[in-house]
Amino acid sequence: MDSLFDKMYLKFYAEKDKLMWGTAPSPGVVSFAEFLKGKEMLEAIVLDSGCGEGRNSIYLAKQGFRVYGLDISAVAIEKARQWAEREGLLEKIWFEVGDVSQMEFRDEFFDAAIDINTINFVKARRKYVAELSRVLKPKGYLLLETLSRESKEYGISKDELEWLITPFFEILEMKEFHAPWGGQNLLHYRILAQNR
Ligand SMILES: C[S@@+](CC[C@H](N)C(=O)[O-])C[C@H]1O[C@@H](n2cnc3c(N)ncnc32)[C@H](O)[C@@H]1O
Repeated sequence: MDSLFDKMYLKFYAEKDKLMWGTAPSPGVVSFAEFLKGKEMLEAIVLDSGCGEGRNSIYLAKQGFRVYGLDISAVAIEKARQWAEREGLLEKIWFEVGDVSQMEFRDEFFDAAIDINTINFVKARRKYVAELSRVLKPKGYLLLETLSRESKEYGISKDELEWLITPFFEILEMKEFHAPWGGQNLLHYRILAQNR
């Protein structure tokens, strides 16, 4: 699958010898892993939706979860697979190329899902959130982090997020935090939600 995101990744790798999104998991994902463990979901099957090069998938697999990383960029997925192989994690993680707004997973397959800065790049957002809800078990948990409209180009508003999510999920917690983006420290949202 050829994508604009492939070009973005290839351009980055041509200029820099490192991963675009780094190797450290998002702090929200670290807390989410503890949250799932606290719910005794130690062997949860977790979807990393728009997983990029896999920094969050790899972290979750190391915590004992079974992880499916899905991304539209074959270039990013290849990087993620190579990384997982080096870590000896290929029995815990499955990386696949695909569009998160048209997933091929069966209904109610996942116990939990994360979306770390993916929804803001997805075109068919309503369809995407419906897909997240479909592939998650009823009452399954979703962690979603996204850039706010402080980034005019890539952000999403709080109102739009609530409008997208609440028909399918109950929002348990919504927090604002600042994180680096394009050389600036920009407002982001972190949502913990439960599938209806
Ligand atoms: C900002 S990156 C975040 C990557 C990863 N979640 C992380 O935190 O390191 C956004 C990712 O979403 C992917 N993406 C954007 N639209 C997508 C879609 N419709 N389906 C699957 N992946 C998509 C891009 O290829 C990119 O890897």
